[in-house]
Amino acid sequence: MEIRPYQPKDYERMHKICYETSSGFDSEDGKKILYTMYCDYYINEEPESCFVAVNDDDEAVGYIICAPDDERYQRVFKEKYAPTLKELSLFKYLFHYAGEFFAKKIRKNYPAHLHIDILPEGQRQGLGTRLMDTLIAHLKGRGVKGVHLGCGASNPKGVNFYRKYGFKETPPFFGGITFFMEL
Ligand SMILES: CC(C)(COP(=O)(O)OP(=O)(O)OC[C@H]1O[C@@H](n2cnc3c(N)ncnc32)[C@H](O)[C@@H]1OP(=O)(O)O)[C@@H](O)C(=O)NCCC(=O)NCCS
Repeated sequence: MEIRPYQPKDYERMHKICYETSSGFDSEDGKKILYTMYCDYYINEEPESCFVAVNDDDEAVGYIICAPDDERYQRVFKEKYAPTLKELSLFKYLFHYAGEFFAKKIRKNYPAHLHIDILPEGQRQGLGTRLMDTLIAHLKGRGVKGVHLGCGASNPKGVNFYRKYGFKETPPFFGGITFFMEL
């Protein structure tokens, strides 16, 4: 499998991967909430900071997607994505901003954040590590000073992956851990 930059033709596969590696977003509105919170900002607004792992048919089986600059993310998300999220689910909207509030200090020192997801058939073959290496090289090339991300404390794949990769972490808080790394 190869790692390459995101291309517009990957758009539907990004949603498929996002959906198939999540749980609890099964209704039509649930899917819209999922994509608004965890996918569309990155592929629409920061496509040059998104990378995919592809199979022999050049179909994405995994991705790493990133907002390199927290200030820009906060501004654009608030203007273009938060209204949709609020309309779909006030609870998820408040959940999103509560998370942002608690990660405020981390966001300042580690201004990039990322999401990484790989379909089950692509997992545990080193693709996550290769996607992370690719993104980190890209961010260093742009002079980004640090990166962070949120992960469920009860997600052993994610928690083990970030620990093994060398991220530092905050104590669990409301079921979530913030991982962070200086670049
Ligand atoms: C988390 C994820 C991105 C890891 O990617 P991956 O390609 O499977 O990981 P790698 O093969 O590069 O493995 C690197 C290390 O991660 C850890 N790891 C990966 N999969 C694991 C699993 N199923 N159980 C425990 N640890 C795991 C291990 O420490 C592993 O090193 P090892 O194989 O030498 O023991 C991938 O499993 C995934 O997409 N999971 C579902 C979605 C998800 O949880 N995303 C993260 C949300 S915060």
